Amino acid sequence: MDRQTEIEQIKEIIGLADQKSAFLDDTIAHSPISRYSSPERFERERALIFRRRPVIVAQSSELEVPRAFLTKRFLDLPVLLTRDENGNVRAFLNVCRHRGAKLEREAKGCKRVFTCPYHAWSWTNEGELRAVPQEAQGFPNLPRAERGLRRLPCAEKNGFIWIVADPDLAEMPDIDGWLAGIGAELDWIGLDQHRIAAIEEIDIKANWKLLMEGGMEAYHFRVAHKNTIGPYFPDNLLTYQMFGPHMRAILPRISMPDMRDTPEDNWEIRRDANMVFTLMSNSQLLVQQDHVMWFHFEPITHDLTHVRMATLVPRALPDTEEMQAHWDKNQKITVTALMEDFQLGEEIQSGFASRGNPSHLFGRFEGALHRFNACVEEMLAS
Ligand code: FES
Ligand SMILES: [Fe+2]
Repeated sequence: MDRQTEIEQIKEIIGLADQKSAFLDDTIAHSPISRYSSPERFERERALIFRRRPVIVAQSSELEVPRAFLTKRFLDLPVLLTRDENGNVRAFLNVCRHRGAKLEREAKGCKRVFTCPYHAWSWTNEGELRAVPQEAQGFPNLPRAERGLRRLPCAEKNGFIWIVADPDLAEMPDIDGWLAGIGAELDWIGLDQHRIAAIEEIDIKANWKLLMEGGMEAYHFRVAHKNTIGPYFPDNLLTYQMFGPHMRAILPRISMPDMRDTPEDNWEIRRDANMVFTLMSNSQLLVQQDHVMWFHFEPITHDLTHVRMATLVPRALPDTEEMQAHWDKNQKITVTALMEDFQLGEEIQSGFASRGNPSHLFGRFEGALHRFNACVEEMLAS
C-alpha cells in the first residue's frame, strides 16, 4: 500500500466514525442458499474454479531448502512439490508413471530422487525419469522422455506456492496478472520474507464460501465475538476494495478514530487496524501489527472444508523461545475467535436442510460478501 493510499484509507475510516456510519453499498443483496448447499454447484466450482485457476497449495517456508519436498492432496489430486538445487519449485502429480502407485508416501522431507515403492522406478526432483529396473528386458525402447512425472503448472510468488490443479494445462498463468494489483499490497507486507511460526489444521463442516464470508464484515463482531475480540473493534466498521476477484478489507481497531488528533506523519495503518486480504479462491490473510495469520481453505465437499490456520512472522525477527511464546499466544487468540465464526458456519450449514431460507440477505454494510459471491459467479460463468 503506498503512503497516499494508507492516509486516504485512514481518513475514510475516521470520516465514517465521525458520521457514525458504516461503509455502505447502494443496495441490499440476496444470496441463494443453493450456492452453499448444492453438491452439483460444488462440482461446478471444483471444475471451473479450483481446478482451473491459480490456487495456493503451500507457504514457501514449508518447502524451504534445496531438495525439500512436500506431498499434498488438493481436491482429488495427489500433489508432490519439490525444490531443486537452484531453488526452483515444481509441482507434479504424486503418481508413478509405471502403474500408478503413490510415488512418495511421506508428507515432507528432503530428496533428490523419488523411488516408487512398487517396482522402484525412480525420478529426479525435476521430474525426469532416472531409472527403470530391468529396463532392457522388460521395457525395450522405452520412450523415457514421455514418462517424466506429470507436471502441474506452478509458481512461487509473495511467499506462497501456487498451482493450477490441472495436469493438462501446459503453462502457469501469469500470477501478477491473476492477482490484479493486490500483489503490490502483498509486496508491501513483505510476505515473501515470512515463515510459519505456528500452524494447526481442522475440518469444518461448512461450505468454503460461508467460512470466507466471515472475514468480510464487521457487523457480527460485537455480537459473535463479544467475549473475545469484539470489544477491540468499533461496531460494524469495515471498508473494502476489490482488486479483480480479490479483496482488501480494513478493520479499524477502536484506537483508529483517535488518530484524527495526531499528525498524519505518525499514521500507520497496521498499528491501528487489521486488514483481511481475500485471495480468490482459497486463502485469507489477516494482517496484524507484527504478523500475518494465513487461513488456507481446502474445499472437500459442498459442506466440508479443510482449514489450515498459520501464524506467518517476519524472518527478520529473532527466532527465540520468548518470541515463539508470543506467536503461540497470538495464534491461540486468533484461533479462539475464528472458532466462534466456524461454529456459526457449521450451524448455518446444518440449517440448510430445513429449507427455512431460500436465500441469505446481505445488508448494505455486508456489500463485500455480495461482491465476493459475484466474483465466484463470474468465474463459474466464464
Ligand atoms: S507402479 Fe511404480 S514402479 Fe511400478
Ligand atoms: Fe468473525
